[in-house]
Amino acid sequence: MKVHWPVEIAGTGVALPSRVVTNNDFASRLETTDEWIHQRTGIRERRIAEPHESTLGLGTAACASALRAANTEASEIDLLICGTITPEHTLPTTSCQIQAALGCRHIPAFDQVSACTGFVWSVATAAQYIASGFAKTALVVGAECMSRITDMEDRGTAILFGDAAGAAVLRKATHPDSGILAARMGADGGQALAIWVPAGGAKEPASTRTVNERLHYLRMNGREVYKFAVSKMQELMKGTLDDAGVKLDELSLVVPHQSNQRIIESACDKLGLPTSKVVVNIDRFGNTSAASVPVALHEAMSAGRIRRGDLVMLIAFGAGLTWGSVLLRV
Ligand code: COA
Repeated sequence: MKVHWPVEIAGTGVALPSRVVTNNDFASRLETTDEWIHQRTGIRERRIAEPHESTLGLGTAACASALRAANTEASEIDLLICGTITPEHTLPTTSCQIQAALGCRHIPAFDQVSACTGFVWSVATAAQYIASGFAKTALVVGAECMSRITDMEDRGTAILFGDAAGAAVLRKATHPDSGILAARMGADGGQALAIWVPAGGAKEPASTRTVNERLHYLRMNGREVYKFAVSKMQELMKGTLDDAGVKLDELSLVVPHQSNQRIIESACDKLGLPTSKVVVNIDRFGNTSAASVPVALHEAMSAGRIRRGDLVMLIAFGAGLTWGSVLLRV
């Protein structure tokens, strides 16, 4: 949809566990190889949290770093949204705990549970709070410890995911032409079981049986998700540009969810978008769910790949199935 949400990114930050797990670390204990993993996914290594690290600490550190980059005090934040499917606890929300850890005022804080789409939906949500005047400055974070819900005995999923957090401070645009020009948000609950965690909710509470049957780990129909992701990513990129009346060659950079390098390349190839205009860091971090877009965004901003006036698209898809995009004039 064509929109006019006058917001800008004031600063970004990331937090990563220090432990690096390479493909060869999996090859030594699962029936897999570095070559298979790299060819099928683009991944070489990922970060995995140590036992003392978890979603709250990573999310808080990423937010603190984004606040410093934005030259903004925690007390100036009017809204906090945390995208996560691996919350610190089932209750309360991780966002409430980050709010307290940062020393924010008693501002609204809520979690966004739309998996890999979490950060993009959080940006779209926060931007509307800012555009409506409800908030002037918002803190948006994607924080995940995917390793805590990944079955490390399942070679089909163990090799894909990593842990990380990335955050951005959004505020009312200071330049008249800056802001979000188009956004799309969608969901198809008919494909809910394409990626899911069978137990731990109201239907299958934790029991000895659910633990023994490994039902607290993420399950995924990789082939179906792959097909969905390629066609949805291409459709979203084209549709979002059309909504804003922007031509493909006017687009400066795409910051996509890092799910699989082949998914990203195939969608860009079908659309005719050169890969030089796409941020890819999956080789070093794997799929970090809601953290993947803000980590890639932070790297692109730090590397000087995003300048004022650029047209940048954030785009993601994931469990639900859900998808979302935001086209931003920086
Ligand atoms: N190492 C070696 N072989 C593996 C393997 C691994 N880590 N994982 C699966 N295989 C095997 C399978 O068992 C299968 O063997 P078979 O042919 O004997 O049955 C074979 O490789 C092909 O499996 P398939 O699932 O068709 O592979 P693929 O090319 O589709 O790649 C994924 C698997 C998971 C990498 C790919 O489907 C994918 O990336 N899907 C999308 C996942 C995603 O993005 N999820 C998050 C969404 S936000």
